[in-house]
Amino acid sequence: MAATADHSTTGANAPTYYVSTPIYYVNDRPHLGHAYTTVAGDVLTRWHRQRGEKVWYLTGTDEHGQKIMRTAEANGVSPQEWCDKLVEEAWKPLWQHLEIANDDFIRTTEDRHTARVQEFVQDLFDKGEIYKGGYSGPYCVGCEEFKLPSELLDGATEDEKLCAVHKRPVEWLEEENYFFRLSAYAEKLLEFYAANPDFIQPASARNEVLRFVEQDLKDLSISRSTFNWGVPLPWDEKHVLYVWVDALQNYITAAGYGSDPERFAELWPASVHLVGKDILRFHAVIWPAMLMAAGLPLPKRVVANGWLMVGGEKMSKSNLTGIAPTDLTSHFGVDAYRYYFLRAIPFGTDGSFSWEDFTARYTSELANDFGNLASRVAAMVGKYFGGKLPASVSAGDAEQAIADGLAKAVSIADVKIGEELDFAGGIAAIFDFVKQVNGYLTEQEPWKVAKDESPEGQARLATILYTAAEALRGTAVLLNPVMPSTAEKLWDSLGAAEGLGTLASQTVATTGDWGRLPAGATVTKGEILFPRLEEKPAA
Ligand code: MSP
Repeated sequence: MAATADHSTTGANAPTYYVSTPIYYVNDRPHLGHAYTTVAGDVLTRWHRQRGEKVWYLTGTDEHGQKIMRTAEANGVSPQEWCDKLVEEAWKPLWQHLEIANDDFIRTTEDRHTARVQEFVQDLFDKGEIYKGGYSGPYCVGCEEFKLPSELLDGATEDEKLCAVHKRPVEWLEEENYFFRLSAYAEKLLEFYAANPDFIQPASARNEVLRFVEQDLKDLSISRSTFNWGVPLPWDEKHVLYVWVDALQNYITAAGYGSDPERFAELWPASVHLVGKDILRFHAVIWPAMLMAAGLPLPKRVVANGWLMVGGEKMSKSNLTGIAPTDLTSHFGVDAYRYYFLRAIPFGTDGSFSWEDFTARYTSELANDFGNLASRVAAMVGKYFGGKLPASVSAGDAEQAIADGLAKAVSIADVKIGEELDFAGGIAAIFDFVKQVNGYLTEQEPWKVAKDESPEGQARLATILYTAAEALRGTAVLLNPVMPSTAEKLWDSLGAAEGLGTLASQTVATTGDWGRLPAGATVTKGEILFPRLEEKPAA
């Protein structure tokens, strides 16, 4: 994925780095697939915060539409009751558990959202962008979307057609609806994509969108009159707004559109909309066209991630393949969870999870390479220097190579994680550095040097242990966005706060500066960062 070099191409230069996740349907509980994007956004925003930038991270829930209404009915409660329950019992607690540091959580049933949505569509109606018409076609309630013939699979009978995503029968809908003049925006959209080649990423996603818009773009049905669980159209209350048109606006209503112009000017346009590849068209075609119609700036980037797969299919609750994140965190811990999915699956491609792969990476990368390094260094500073970090007094080429290695890891990770959203590549660079430090200790053999009681021997020992501890100082900062609790434990164990302040106050820019950890810091063994795994729980 190419980095966006010029952030000013798509509107006013927003001073805040604003990242959004999709807002999730609350018809069911979250699974690994939902958490994947939210963790990625959290790492991205934590990274930018650590750069000292102003950051705003938004997530939330999508609560209108037929899917939610039917689920509530099936459970014998009102849609609102259902949403309240799921949001409070399942969604918000999960994000807290996974240490997601979102700045806001928007629910589409909140007044701050619905009132602004009504103003937005009224404005489009007044401008002649919305008209009344009729539509009939196959509709997938799972996707909450009308389908094109090319997007359907054959079903069990001659008449039955299945949604290619959900593998469930589509319904035939025939209604009088209001329409948004989406077709009028085809040319403008194509011009916009051409002028902003980094708007849609990765390239495969961009190509898919270009092909779609180059074909015959149809106007979009934006209202429903056969059920009422939605935002009423202000000029015709027999209709509720199509759930997607309502949902997309969360990105501006939460940012102060129509309610707090100053905040809105500071936040909008968003820097990155993170989306799953299945909802790319909504974000890269419909949403930009609606914003164009309203005269608002467009988001700077829409980045599509792939799916977590199970048995060759997208993981989903409706296919009964949705695994709850807590099934894994109870075994591996939250930080290892955050690490694993971003490290193991290149962002933008599909990937699958297996206990075996997770266990192997946990043991070799986290426990052996990283956790053991931290505990060995702390133990040696304890044993040979009474827990006071010695000064580096005889640094030579080997130490310079470690200093260079840290600077290199910082600059690679900063571009890969902070700009390119290549989390796997960024984390790999940090772990290459961890490997380098392990190699340094193997070569220098401080446990042997310790036996040499001459002043030169002790100076070597001090230098080696200082170098390793300072390398860990840099590693803690680099891993802080990915594994915040582990990084904090390491920071404490290095006694780094005494001389350097909190981990949160460290910046990416200075992390590569060698020699920041002051000699004399109190190094303690602390708890084991990645304890040996218990037996895998029975399925
Ligand atoms: N409510 C809409 C989004 C509205 S945004 C204005 C929606 N909700 S969803 O809950 O069905 O999906 C939300 C996100 O989760 C999508 O980006 C989707 O791609 C993602 N995932 C759902 N299952 C997934 C996997 N198995 N793997 C990775 N992400 C997947 O669509």
